[in-house]
Amino acid sequence: MGLLDAIKRAKEQKKPDLAAAFPAGIQAAPHGGPPDLTAAEPLQPHTFLGVEELNKILDSIQDVPTLPSIANKVIQAINDPQSNAKAIADIIKNDPALTARLLKIGNSAYYAGYSPCASVQNAITRMGLLQIKRLVFSISILDAFDKYAASGFNIKDFWKHSIAVAYNTRTIGKVARFRDTEDLFTAGLLHDLGILIIIKYMPEMFDAIMKKREENPEISFYHCERADFPISHCEIGSWLSVRWQMSREIQSVIFSHHQPPINSTLFEKDVIMFSAVVYLADKFSARIEAGFLNDSTADIDKDIFNFVFGEKISEEEVLGHLLKNKSIIEATAASL
Ligand SMILES: [Fe+2]
Ligand SMILES: [Fe+2]
Repeated sequence: MGLLDAIKRAKEQKKPDLAAAFPAGIQAAPHGGPPDLTAAEPLQPHTFLGVEELNKILDSIQDVPTLPSIANKVIQAINDPQSNAKAIADIIKNDPALTARLLKIGNSAYYAGYSPCASVQNAITRMGLLQIKRLVFSISILDAFDKYAASGFNIKDFWKHSIAVAYNTRTIGKVARFRDTEDLFTAGLLHDLGILIIIKYMPEMFDAIMKKREENPEISFYHCERADFPISHCEIGSWLSVRWQMSREIQSVIFSHHQPPINSTLFEKDVIMFSAVVYLADKFSARIEAGFLNDSTADIDKDIFNFVFGEKISEEEVLGHLLKNKSIIEATAASL
């Protein structure tokens, strides 16, 4: 029995119990993530799967990818005050593919005007340690999923979308004077992680959604999931983020970036802000890039916009800030 069938069957079996166990409108959240407080959306045939059930089914995935060790090593070295650019370059140089990609970005149009970038240490000086950290993290996660190709689907489009959302999440955090942290960047980068699990382990679900979207491009990937399937990439990605021991904020973003619970009193504002900022970055990125995963209209919920920015800035002004990210997004995506 495939993963999707197992989830469908568990849902059928558990529906009566869990419907009674949760208050109306609140849906069980997997893996200790936040419950879905906006489950009242008409399209949703609620999952009603308990944490235990879903964990058990997803844990049956044998060969789930681990976080690449090179990413951990570089991040640790950058966070270590004793470390220096040479030590970090030495770690990166052990991975020739990673080295080649970093040099390609260092020599891209984004850094035009500099002399050619010939070594990793050169690239570190040019881009700065934080930028190197972001790139190494992005590239090595991408490599972990590299083999996850689906028929008729270009995985690079997926990563371009993820990278766009990562940079735009960071900028929105900064413009909203929330924060400008690496956690925001990572949250943006990983927000759609669950889609990769769907591609690999539930290809029949992925194919059906892509086919439906081909005929109805105005319907988003998420809405197709909610309308036709017992689970979405949000719950599945949240499970993987727990397995990868990501921070609570990142787990929460992966779980609720399509419906940030801005009216909830159950979570700290900080945690909700993460989801709301990624929600906006996702929508704006779709507007800028016509991202493949999103509604072509990409309408933005005014309440979520105001939750993040107050009323002191317009959508057009935010868009103006985000357009400045376009060249670094292009340069990063082109190096993949
Ligand atoms: Fe998503
Ligand atoms: Fe997305």
